[in-house]
Amino acid sequence: MERKSIRKVLGGVAPGEIVCVKGWVRTLRSGKDIVFIALNDGSCFASLQVVVSPDIADFESVARVGTGACLAVRGVLIESPAAGQRCEVQAREVEILGDADVDYPLQKKRHSLEFLRSIAHLRPRSNTFGAVFRLRSALSFAIHRFFNERGFLYVHTPIITANDCEGAGEMFRVTTLDSENPPKNGNHIAWNEDFFGEKTGLTVSGQLQGELFATAFSDIYTFGPTFRAENSNTSRHAAEFWMIEPEMAFADLEDDCRLAEDFLRYLVTYTLEHCGEDLAFFNERIEKGLLDKLQTLATASFETMTYSEAVNRLQASGENFQFPVDWGLDLQSEHERYLTEKIIGGPVFVTDYPVGIKAFYMRLNDEEKTVAAMDLLVPRVGEIIGGSQREERLDVLQRRMTESGIVPESLWWYLDTRRWGSCPHAGFGLGFERLLMYLTGMENIRDVIPFPRTPGNARF
Ligand code: 4AD
Ligand code: MG
Repeated sequence: MERKSIRKVLGGVAPGEIVCVKGWVRTLRSGKDIVFIALNDGSCFASLQVVVSPDIADFESVARVGTGACLAVRGVLIESPAAGQRCEVQAREVEILGDADVDYPLQKKRHSLEFLRSIAHLRPRSNTFGAVFRLRSALSFAIHRFFNERGFLYVHTPIITANDCEGAGEMFRVTTLDSENPPKNGNHIAWNEDFFGEKTGLTVSGQLQGELFATAFSDIYTFGPTFRAENSNTSRHAAEFWMIEPEMAFADLEDDCRLAEDFLRYLVTYTLEHCGEDLAFFNERIEKGLLDKLQTLATASFETMTYSEAVNRLQASGENFQFPVDWGLDLQSEHERYLTEKIIGGPVFVTDYPVGIKAFYMRLNDEEKTVAAMDLLVPRVGEIIGGSQREERLDVLQRRMTESGIVPESLWWYLDTRRWGSCPHAGFGLGFERLLMYLTGMENIRDVIPFPRTPGNARF
């Protein structure tokens, strides 16, 4: 008989029908001549109650299986006489596919997220992580759907690259040279003898390649893993994270902000419509008020303020910050959170940052002190999106590169886009895990990634 997912069984099978379900035992309660099993297959939040009576073959063994055991059950779906569930399955046949030892680490009590992280093989079977990873999957689909509906081309940008897009020196090295005994040119490692004939690493962003495609296909996006060897052990930084980077030709900063806003609202609406059960769990157990927040967000228009205004308002706030607030200094996460949580009380775009603290590719504003950049800040998480209008003027771009310590010739292929048919264009990067933190209320980035990579941790 064909297996049905528990989601399908609970969502639409008529009572009286015979079904076959397979899954893992969440709990098992034995009564007098009866066994109740909560079976979960991960297809939805809810478990299915399976009622087993002694008239099935092998009743004794089934009554003794451990929590975590894997079962195949064939039985009749009936309306449940008990409170707490709409229907249950009266088993006619139970096959033990894999029993579980009594030392199964996931017991009924609530485990800490840290403990669950240490058992990566069972973590996805818990309520919290089941909900997180279903949401992560649903959102990935929604992201592609959003861009597909708008005619954006999906482009795969390389993972291995010779360019540090953000210029922050945070690339992981990719090499096949013998680390014990690398070839040398004098005192220096001869990178020209390395696999690619030059120094390469893991990408920190697909943007530069994305810009090349935007100047051919107009509207494009990337969605893939990015890597940063930032040694910051915070709850919001991962060494490997996923980023969505749209790039639009013929667009300015204003268009960029509108796309970001539409995108976020679309994803929130999608989540509300498709992930109700999981969101209800987050609302109750992870962040009280989450559902109200998301419902407001689904129709909100986001506030905007310039960096200069942000600095003024932070200075006027009278708040005692750990880091100084002064025009020209980068905003620290304490400042970002104060702006979005205390001053605005919702998402806010901060635009037009000082040229000295932003990447070389951002378009220089006319007063030449600021660039056409935007960051979207949201409560609890801080920066969730970073984007900008790009510098489309070749001479200005070359000047900005030199000022930022980048040799223009090293990016000749990028500069070529400004030589032959340059156009105004803009884009942004949305950190996928930061988005998930915002939509679930989870407070640590490690808890929204299937297998987190952070300093000192790449075990599983
Ligand atoms: O602001 P960032 O560095 O911008 C870029 O990479 C641009 N090339 C994007 C573009 O314009 N196409 O990073 C974009 C976003 C951040 O706002 C943040 O959400 C996320 O990526 N991010 C991280 N997420 C998790 N761990 C890290 N270490 C992150 N660094 C950035
Ligand atoms: Mg940024």
